[in-house]
Amino acid sequence: MTVNLSSPSPYCVFKYFLSVFAASPQIFINNEWHESVSGKKFPVFNPATEEIICHVEEGDKADVDKAVKAARQAFQIGSPWRTMDASERGRLLNKLADLMERDRLLLATMESMNAGKVFPHAYMMDLHVGIKTLKYCAGWADKVHGQTIPSDGDIFTYTRREPIGVCGQIIPWNGPLVMFTWKIGPALACGNTVIVKPAEQTPLTALHMASLVKEAGFPPGVVNVVPGYGPTAGAAISSHMDIDKVAFTGSTEVGKLIKEAAGKSNLKRVTLELGGKSPCIVFADADLDSAVEFAHQGVFFHQGQLCIAASRLFVEESIYDEFVKRSVERAKKYVPGNPLNAGINQGPQIDKEQHTKILDLIESGKKEGAKLECGGGRWGNKGFFVQPTVFSNVTDEMRIAKEEIFGPVQQIMKFKSIDDVIKRANNTSYGLAAGVFTKDLDKALTVSSALQAGIVWVNCYLAMAVQCPFGGFKMSGNGRELGEYGMYEYTELKTVAVKISQKNS
Ligand code: NAI
Ligand code: MG
Repeated sequence: MTVNLSSPSPYCVFKYFLSVFAASPQIFINNEWHESVSGKKFPVFNPATEEIICHVEEGDKADVDKAVKAARQAFQIGSPWRTMDASERGRLLNKLADLMERDRLLLATMESMNAGKVFPHAYMMDLHVGIKTLKYCAGWADKVHGQTIPSDGDIFTYTRREPIGVCGQIIPWNGPLVMFTWKIGPALACGNTVIVKPAEQTPLTALHMASLVKEAGFPPGVVNVVPGYGPTAGAAISSHMDIDKVAFTGSTEVGKLIKEAAGKSNLKRVTLELGGKSPCIVFADADLDSAVEFAHQGVFFHQGQLCIAASRLFVEESIYDEFVKRSVERAKKYVPGNPLNAGINQGPQIDKEQHTKILDLIESGKKEGAKLECGGGRWGNKGFFVQPTVFSNVTDEMRIAKEEIFGPVQQIMKFKSIDDVIKRANNTSYGLAAGVFTKDLDKALTVSSALQAGIVWVNCYLAMAVQCPFGGFKMSGNGRELGEYGMYEYTELKTVAVKISQKNS
C-alpha cells in the first residue's frame, strides 16, 4: 500500500494504520511480542462502520501468568528497575511522553477509529491529556518520599514510600489512551511494574503504547500489556496470588467483583473508579448561556460515555422552561457521523451492547412519562449511533433518572428549594461528580460542601486536571487517582526505627 506521509491527514494515517495492523497485534510481555498461549484471537471493531479492523491475540489466565512472572522478575531486589535512580524513571516517562507526541496523529486516528472518538477531540484532548499525564508523573518520580519522625526513645525513625510491587491495571473503552496513561504514569513514577489489560473493545492504542514503552528504553517486564476479555484475562488479574495491587476503571458491577476477588485471593490493594449519576444543579441566578452550554457538554461530550456525565440536571423552577428550550436548541445542533470526517461532533457508541442499553433506557423514559423533547432513537442504519436526546419533566423515580445511561441523553428535572435539591442530588448510590451554577457565593459554597461527590464544579463542568485528585464517594469508587494523593495509592509506607546510642533534639 502506498501512503503519502509527507502531508498526513487522518485518512492517510487511517490507510497506514490498516497496513500496520495487517498482521494481528500481539501480547506484550518482557518487551517482546507473544502469541496467545491458547492460540485464540479476537476481533476488534470500528463502531462507526461495524466492520472488523483487525484480530488481536487473545490473552487469558495463562498469558496473565506469563506477564506476572515477567513483572515480578523486573521488580526483584537488585533488578535494573529497582536499582534505577528515581529521576531516571522520570526521564523514561518523559521520553515516553515525547514518543506519544511524535506519534500523535497515528494514536489519535487509532483512538478515533477504534473508540469512536471525534478526531479533533482525540487529537487535541486525549493526546494532550495523555502526554500531560505522563509528564506530570515524570515530575513526581523523584519527589515521592518519606519523613524523619521525632519518635520516643533512643531511636532514629524515618519512613519510606516504597513501590507496592506488581500492579494489574484494568481499563475501559471510553478513554483507552488517557486511561492507559493514568494507570501506568503514577505506578511507574513510584517504581512499580505493571500489567495492563485494555478493554476488549479498544486494545489498539494500548498496544501501540507498548511498542513506545520498549522504544523509550524501559527495562523488560516493567510494562506488560495483555489484551483480552474481562471474565477471563481481567478476572485472572483480580484473583492472582502474585499481583500486589489492582487498579480498575469501569462498571460498579465489575468493581464489586474485583474487590471480592482481591478478598478471596491475596487481599491485594484495590483502587476503583466506577460509575456515576452525577447531579448538575442550576439556580435561577446563574449565567444562563454558560450553564446551558456546560450542562450540554457535561452530558453529550463523547456521546455521553463519561463516568462523570451530568446525567441528572436539576433546574430551578422559575427558569425551567427557558432552560429546556435552550438545551433542546443546543442538542439539535449536533452532527452525528463517522468521527474521522470533518464537521462531525458526535461519533458512535462503543458497541452493540451499549447501543441496545441506551435505546432501552430511552424507551423506558418515554413509557414512564418523561417528555421527549428531541431525538429518542438510533441515528442512521449503520454504526452504533444514537440521536442526541433530551427529556424534560423527568422525575426522580424514573429509570433514566436513576441508572447510568452512558449515552447522549439529557434528563432535565425541576427543583423548588435549595434544601430539596441537595437531598435529591444526594439520593443515589453513586458519588463521583457534581456541578452547581449560581452567582451567589453562599449558595455555591453551601451546596458544594453538602454534595456527596469526589469532585464538585462551580460554574463549570468537566474541568479535570492532572494535578487534582479524582475519584468517587459511595459506590463510585475507592481511592483517588492523579495529583499527590493519586501517587500515594501506588506506594506502601514503611516505618524504619533504628536504635542509636543517644538521641538529641
Ligand atoms: P466493564 O466494567 O464490564 O468493563 C470495563 C473493564 O473491565 C474492561 O477492561 C473489561 O474487560 C473488564 N472486566 C469485565 N468483567 C471483568 C471481570 N469479571 N473481572 C475483571 N475485569 C473485568 O464495563 P462494560 O460492560 O464495558 O460497560 C458497562 C457499563 O459500565 C457502562 O454502560 C457504563 O455504565 C459503565 N462504565 C463505566 C466506565 C467508567 O469510566 N467508570 C467505563 C466503562 C463502562
Ligand atoms: Mg461488562
